[in-house]
Amino acid sequence: MSDAAAIDPADRDALIAAARAAMAGAYAPYSRFHVGAALRFADGTVVVGSNFENASYGLSLCAETVAAANASQQGHRAGLVAVAIAGGPLGVPGAVVAPCGRCRQVLAELASLGHTDPLIIATGAHETVDMRLSALLPLAFGPANLRT
Ligand code: THU
Repeated sequence: MSDAAAIDPADRDALIAAARAAMAGAYAPYSRFHVGAALRFADGTVVVGSNFENASYGLSLCAETVAAANASQQGHRAGLVAVAIAGGPLGVPGAVVAPCGRCRQVLAELASLGHTDPLIIATGAHETVDMRLSALLPLAFGPANLRT
């Protein structure tokens, strides 16, 4: 597992801005909790996602999972270096939002494809927390476990 390089401050700001902008794309009529996620790859590509809820509540997809699937579909798999997340009721300053447990696992799968340990930038209205994915999901189960 190679450690992802420190992200340039301007790129970090742009990634956070992309996550906040992606909140507008959320389909969240049930929770009214809009989440945006922005993934940055080593080549500078940024791919976003937002949560997509379902009337059968448990089928709802989180923003990070949608972003990961979007990236894969667009051919961006190796080289995930950073992920910014923003969320809350639209227009209301919110608390820090970090990826849920399922999304940590989904992000770990994507990160494993390029052997990176992405920086997770969990943002709130007044506070930001940066943590490596390996700290949020220690001893992650992954593709290597299935190799014989
Ligand atoms: N949600 C996300 O999109 N990402 C997270 O990391 C936490 C939760 C979504 C799921 C649901 O649509 C809404 O936020 C409320 O839980």
